[in-house]
Amino acid sequence: MELTGSVNEVRKQVKEWRRQGLTVGLVPTMGYLHEGHKSLIDRAVAENDRVVVSDFVNPIQFGVNEDLSTYPRDIEADKKLCEAAGADLIFHPEPEEMYAPDFSTFVETEHVSAGLCGKSRPTHFRGVCTVVSKLFHIVMPDRAYFGQKDAQQLAVIRRMARDLNMDIQIVGCPIIREADGLAKSSRNTYLNQEERQAALVLSKAVFYGESMIKQGERDAAAVVTAMRDIIEKEPLAKIDYVEMVDADSIEPLDRAEGRVLAAMAVFIGSTRLIDNFMIEV
Ligand code: PAF
Repeated sequence: MELTGSVNEVRKQVKEWRRQGLTVGLVPTMGYLHEGHKSLIDRAVAENDRVVVSDFVNPIQFGVNEDLSTYPRDIEADKKLCEAAGADLIFHPEPEEMYAPDFSTFVETEHVSAGLCGKSRPTHFRGVCTVVSKLFHIVMPDRAYFGQKDAQQLAVIRRMARDLNMDIQIVGCPIIREADGLAKSSRNTYLNQEERQAALVLSKAVFYGESMIKQGERDAAAVVTAMRDIIEKEPLAKIDYVEMVDADSIEPLDRAEGRVLAAMAVFIGSTRLIDNFMIEV
């Protein structure tokens, strides 16, 4: 497995693979890789001849008061995980390699990025779409792999790829959880012991909401209220949002019908965590 920080080196390598008639999968990440990322890499390795993992903490998707400077990083551990999972190339650029000092071109979706996380992080999805479309142009993969945990991100990227005729299959992969239910996230590392325990209210609310729908409840407000009640019982938790929306358009739903996404963002202390379930009704 190779590691490079150079756009030109990635292009050269991918061109060579293409010349050999090989297919290429891309797993975009911000590093500090865990089992959730590994599941994306495993899937990419199973479905493509060669796999590129990008490992880049993208500054332009962080708001001014967010955690860009403290976001966890460990490239040596990332290398080991990628190597063991069978990836072929890690792209680990410096910010200067990705963004010229006078960088001034952005990719932005409307509507689908306005609700949920878009409300409290108004420039986040513009930063995500811009870096993902740059990665798509650099790697030109056949398939790209994203986690369902970032369900709105997945919807936004699917919309961007469709609207801009990007000839890349966007593959969504299931949420990976700790044994006690907490969705795996690089940001879990910010939690102290007490907060780690309190964070379980997210998955508890997710499992409960999902079971209500499986048992036949169709009223979105009833499901959301029950989920909020669970979270509000935890003193360390502060809800940013809990909502039920259409999984593709991210438009709010009154009734749980179609491709339903129930998503939440909750502060546990100062750490903002997200979780969700998606169900076809
Ligand atoms: O999901 C992430 O880790 C990031 O938002 C992504 C897709 C790698 C873009 O920086």
